[in-house]
Amino acid sequence: MPDARTLIAIYPGSFDPLTNGHLDIIHRAANLADHLTIAILNNSAKQPLFSVGERLSMIRESTSKIANVEVDSFSGLLVDYAARRSANGIIRGIRAISDYEIELQMALINRRLRPETETLFLMAGEEFSFISSRMIKEIITLGGDVSAFVPPVVLKRLREKLPASR
Ligand code: PNS
Repeated sequence: MPDARTLIAIYPGSFDPLTNGHLDIIHRAANLADHLTIAILNNSAKQPLFSVGERLSMIRESTSKIANVEVDSFSGLLVDYAARRSANGIIRGIRAISDYEIELQMALINRRLRPETETLFLMAGEEFSFISSRMIKEIITLGGDVSAFVPPVVLKRLREKLPASR
């Protein structure tokens, strides 16, 4: 019998905003991990649509029924945050081969910086393979319907923030 080990995982990202693709990865990761922290990067160099506080509350509301999930934010290096949380896994979602190159580079850098944290790639369901936060912001800004791509609370906040959208 293999040793039972505990997986303390972090799912980091910008989540600006959370999509149904992210939620799919969160459900898959929560099924694997003992504890999963969704960690929003607080990046002062970027101008996000939603503040960290708004993203925290939208993700909390969308994941409230998943018992082993917690939502937090971090600044600085991901591996330093992982060390503070005693995490041994970093979760990243892969949609298509185009995600692979940058994700591989990040995983290898993070492993060099902190070998105790292993990156685990999860494949989003194929129905989410074309969804990205950037596309959602573009579609809704141009008046398109994104209701199939984001959780209800995100749709509501997008409509409040961008009143011209539908
Ligand atoms: O959702 P995103 O924007 O693809 O997430 C990228 C993220 C937040 C995972 C990445 O930018 C990150 O980890 N930033 C923290 C800074 C860091 O640790 N950089 C070195 C490793 S790439």
